[in-house]
Amino acid sequence: MELGLVSNHVSPQSLSLPPPPGMLTFNLLGVPLVGADVCGFSEQTEEELCVRWTQLGAFYPFTRNHNAIDQKPQDPPVFSPRARSAMKQSLLLRYSLFPLLYTLFHRAHTHGHTVARPLLFEFPKDVRTYGIDRQFLWGKSLMVTPVLDPGVDYVVGYFPQGLWYDYYTGDSIRSKGEELRLKAPLEHINLHLREGAVVPTQRPNTTLFVSSGQPLHLVSSLSEDGSAGGELFWDDGESIDTLETDQYAHIVFTVVKNTMTSEVLHDHVEASYITVETASFYGVKAEPTRVTVNSQDAAFSYRANQVLTVTDLGLNLSQNFTISWI
Ligand SMILES: *[C@@H]1O[C@H](CO)[C@@H](O)[C@H](O)[C@H]1NC(C)=O
Ligand SMILES: *[C@@H]1O[C@H](CO)[C@@H](O)[C@H](O)[C@H]1NC(C)=O
Ligand SMILES: *[C@@H]1O[C@H](CO)[C@@H](O)[C@H](O)[C@H]1NC(C)=O
Repeated sequence: MELGLVSNHVSPQSLSLPPPPGMLTFNLLGVPLVGADVCGFSEQTEEELCVRWTQLGAFYPFTRNHNAIDQKPQDPPVFSPRARSAMKQSLLLRYSLFPLLYTLFHRAHTHGHTVARPLLFEFPKDVRTYGIDRQFLWGKSLMVTPVLDPGVDYVVGYFPQGLWYDYYTGDSIRSKGEELRLKAPLEHINLHLREGAVVPTQRPNTTLFVSSGQPLHLVSSLSEDGSAGGELFWDDGESIDTLETDQYAHIVFTVVKNTMTSEVLHDHVEASYITVETASFYGVKAEPTRVTVNSQDAAFSYRANQVLTVTDLGLNLSQNFTISWI
């Protein structure tokens, strides 16, 4: 069966995108590598539809723009500069989140976890999540709220109870379990981080091969009590059975009591080429007076929306490190 074949028909009358329930169902059924043909396979696509679809498709576990042979071209360069740039941004966003995606696939392989995950899987006690098929998560923490309707510059998304952060800015939302109206201009796909996560991201480049050597940026979304955790599974991206043959790195990130610790549980040469360049902490309630990296003073910035950022770290991913603030 062709994995791309999940509700990939364009609906020209409504110009609406197929919502992602097919993708979520496949993930529940143990087939995580799935995604519809971005911009639609049969019938003509249209610019706005194709942009919104590319943004959603950047979060399909399997992404490809795929067209039928007798249809008008639908690759990014055939559209206006605005559309092209929005599509490029969403693909670069996917590449930047690749360390997270790769780690989730590792979990799918070893534990049968979902990669694209319905909200109900993470919030089983919140019955309001049961019917949600227009939003989903990557793993347990990154919530995607795509625009699926034409002609709108906003989207309504449900936020289960707790603390959420705008992925891009770190602005926090304290939800009682409510629907929120979010700005969604054509260039923007809404992404939110649930409290308590550390997400490894990577400066993107033109291909994954090039990207995979780029420096990491760790984004931590602190919970009310200031804690967070996350992990990274990394290998050469090509060899098979790297887990079974010990050819992988596994690194665990923990934030507790104003200290991030990176612990190398399993080392591999692939990790020693990569540096951790930046770390951002969302939800640092008071401006720190001092930040130390492996006990050495480090430069930092702090924004009024409670985001602490430490840059120019140059830390070797193969070595344990700590970042602390007081
Ligand atoms: C992309 O990769 C090229 C080749 O390795 C490098 O010269 C360039 O600086 C990279 N771009 C970014 C934005 O990191
Ligand atoms: C790094 O952290 C791991 C896990 O805590 C530990 O087993 C290992 O000994 C540490 N490595 C070094 C060089 O301290
Ligand atoms: C990173 O650390 C590893 C393990 O200590 C070492 O083998 C490697 O050479 C280091 N990489 C760089 C770029 O210094």
